[in-house]
Amino acid sequence: TFPQKVGIREVGPRDGLQNESVIVPTRRKVEWMEKLLDAGIRYLEVSSFVSPKWIPALADAEDVFRMLPKRTGVTYAALVPNAKGLERALQADVDEVSLFVSASDTHNRRNVNRPVEQSLRELRPVAEEALAAGKSVRGYISMVFGCPYEGKISIGTVERTAHALLDMGVRELSLGDTIGIAHPRQVTRVIRQLKTTIPSGKMALHFHNTRGLALANTMAALEQNIQFFDGAAGGLGGCPYAQGAAGNIATEDLVYLLEQSGIQTGINVNQLVQAAGFIKPHIGGRLSSFQASLNEEG
Ligand code: HMG
Ligand code: MG
Repeated sequence: TFPQKVGIREVGPRDGLQNESVIVPTRRKVEWMEKLLDAGIRYLEVSSFVSPKWIPALADAEDVFRMLPKRTGVTYAALVPNAKGLERALQADVDEVSLFVSASDTHNRRNVNRPVEQSLRELRPVAEEALAAGKSVRGYISMVFGCPYEGKISIGTVERTAHALLDMGVRELSLGDTIGIAHPRQVTRVIRQLKTTIPSGKMALHFHNTRGLALANTMAALEQNIQFFDGAAGGLGGCPYAQGAAGNIATEDLVYLLEQSGIQTGINVNQLVQAAGFIKPHIGGRLSSFQASLNEEG
C-alpha cells in the first residue's frame, strides 16, 4: 500500500553544499534555508559538525545555526561524526543529530578514516549522550545498494548495520544510495528484506539521481510503504569521499511526483523551485532538477 502522506527530509544545505567546489557565503545559505522553510519544508539538515579540514564548505556550521531563526514545527538537524562534533552540535542547539556510517568498509575509511566496526563502537556513546541531552538521533547508512570501491553490498551487511544503529536509539534510518546505482527491483528486494525485522516507519530512503533512476526507485519504495524521503533542493550534491557520487534527487522533483500521485507532503513545488533558483548562481549556475529547468524554459 502507498502511504497517504510522506515526510521530506531536506538535506540540500548539508549534502548538497558539502560537495560544491565553491563556498557559499553564510548569509546566502541562511537566506536559502528561509526560502526552503517558506516552501513548506519541515525537516532541514542544516550543516555538518565534521572536521572543517575535511569539508571546508560547511566550516561555518556554528554561524549558520546562529543566524538561522528557529521556527516552531521545524526540525533542525546536523551531521555529527564523533564526540567533538556532538559537543559543537549541542552548543548550536540542534534538534536532531545525524550519525553516519557506511555499509562499505572502504568507503567508511575514506569518509571518516576508520573501519565500520570502529565507527559503530565510537558512535554508541555519542548517541547515548545526544539522547541524554534530549536530542533525537538519526542514522545514515551509505552505499546500501552498491559501492564504487567494493561493488555489491550484501543485504545482510546493511541489516546488521541498521540494527547496530537502532540499538543505539536511532529514531530513523536513512538508507543511502550514495552513488545512484540502485534500480527499482533492487530497492523492492532490499526494503522487503529489511522490513522483516525493521518497521517501515523507521526507514527513510536517500536516493541519488546519477543514472536517472531516483524517481523510479522512489516509486518502488512507496510501494513498500516507505513514508520518509531525503531530497536536496536543486538536485545538489554528492559525497566528496565517494567517487562518482553526484546529485541527490531534487526535492522539487520528488515533491512533484508525490503530490501528483495524491500523496501529501505539505510542500509547495513552485516555491521550492523558486528556492532552488535562488541558490543556483551561488553554486556555479548549474542545477540538476527537472522542475527547475522547466521553470526556466517557461
Ligand atoms: P581524523 O583525522 O581521523 O580525526 O578525522 P582526528 O580525531 O584525528 O582529528 C583530526 C583533526 O580534526 C583534529 O584537529 C581534530 O580536533 C579535528 P587538529 O588537531 O589536526 O587541528 N576534528 C574536528 N574538528 C571539528 N569538528 C569535529 C572534529 N573531529 C575532529 N567534529 C573525522 C576523522 C571524522 C573528524 C573526519 O574524517 C571527518 O570530519 N570526516 C567527515 C567527512 C564527511 O563529512 N563526509 C561526508 C559525509 S556524507 C556521507 O557520508 C553520505 C551521506 O550523505 C548519505 C549518502 O549520500 O548516501 C550521509
Ligand atoms: Mg546524499
